[in-house]
Amino acid sequence: MDKNPPCETVLEHNRRYIPGGISSVNRSIDPAITFVKGEGAYLWDNDGKRYIDYHAGFAPYFLGHNFAPINQAAAAALIGGDSLFGAGPSIAEGRLAELICENVPAAQKVTFLNTGSEATSLAIRIGRAVTGRSHIIVMQGGYNGNHDEVACNVFNTLAEVGPRVSPGEYPLRPLGAGTTVTQTHFTHAVNYNDLESVRYVCRRFPVAALITEPLLQNIGVVKPAPGYLEGLRALADELGFLLVFDEVKTGFRHALGGYSQLSGVTPDLVVYGKAVANGFPLAAVGGKTKYMDSIIDPDPARRPFVAGTYNGHPVAVAAAIETVRYLVANKDSIYPKMETMGAAMEAGILDIFSRRGITACVARQGSAFSFYLMEKPPADLHDIIQGHDFARDVALRRALIARGVFFVPIATKQCSLSAAHSETDVQFTLEQFESAVAAVW
Ligand SMILES: Cc1ncc(COP(=O)(O)O)c(C=O)c1O
Repeated sequence: MDKNPPCETVLEHNRRYIPGGISSVNRSIDPAITFVKGEGAYLWDNDGKRYIDYHAGFAPYFLGHNFAPINQAAAAALIGGDSLFGAGPSIAEGRLAELICENVPAAQKVTFLNTGSEATSLAIRIGRAVTGRSHIIVMQGGYNGNHDEVACNVFNTLAEVGPRVSPGEYPLRPLGAGTTVTQTHFTHAVNYNDLESVRYVCRRFPVAALITEPLLQNIGVVKPAPGYLEGLRALADELGFLLVFDEVKTGFRHALGGYSQLSGVTPDLVVYGKAVANGFPLAAVGGKTKYMDSIIDPDPARRPFVAGTYNGHPVAVAAAIETVRYLVANKDSIYPKMETMGAAMEAGILDIFSRRGITACVARQGSAFSFYLMEKPPADLHDIIQGHDFARDVALRRALIARGVFFVPIATKQCSLSAAHSETDVQFTLEQFESAVAAVW
């Protein structure tokens, strides 16, 4: 194969060996692009064209692509003789656990896995082990990973889900075939920002755990209404299920202690991934000691099984240690900078839409933002599928990509600023945004 062949050639080659040519269906986009380099806030494609990146690999790159201190820490682990010993505790995993427990209030103890999906799976398992119940509640419009029990009800059309259900639960809509989610009926999808629906499900089923992103970031950015997270906390305490915050996207990005720290609502268990190792594959489940210690319950009937060849992999752990260290050392400059840049982006986009008389809004939390072509930011998925102009959204993203600004071309997908972005990048992005809007409307 040539060094940098065109994307069609890469796809054609890959399709011979990989179904569809790509190992994750979520990476399949139109226009298809083969990126060959990432550095800081930028990506380059096979033609050498540079893009300002707001996708951040689905959000891990909070410090930017190929951030030198983290790459160096990972390289040091590789060349320093560290290996996957496959037996005994590692000094590095203990160090990382200490750093996380010191900086994430929701984590009194923590254990490491590789992906967010593995981690949410374990959190649910712990919930079941400690409550002795089986049912779980997920959010309509939330994403918690690729495994059977939660891979459902992220994006449905109005035709699929029908009228708003409240209080009540939505019909389960698996993300694909071959899943048991429709048959087991252990999973219940309710509307986000709807406490009565949680109570409704709990009245009918013995619920072990409710898992939710504290703010939904897989259908753009959908924030909790005042009192919602506190309401979930109160319901968990009253009804005896475990409250699990899936901070795979929000952890480290909004604060070292995640959105839980910002909101002041402490879940029973918390799941981290993505930004925790700035692009290296590492995830964590943390939480209250009394729940985390179920992992070592002397009674095997009450002990959730936790194992993984690569859990606590030395390279990813080294990257995560450096990520935490870097954020601890620089948090007083990084988080305010992200807020300033995010606010500038939000104001700039709103100004462009309003000058052109286009009905639109921006939903944002710090560095994470999304625009919606509707009057006000959504409170749940239903608002989006009822009010958003999906076709124009994707057309605008494609026009931005043509102009060297990479907003992933999937409607409503959240954009991520990184600490590597500069005010000049934001300015350039807004100029291209204006030009793209002019081309699409
Ligand atoms: C909130 C949330 N939870 C869990 C996951 C699953 O993580 P992974 O893709 O690393 O398995 C994702 C991935 O996008 C996510 O956004």
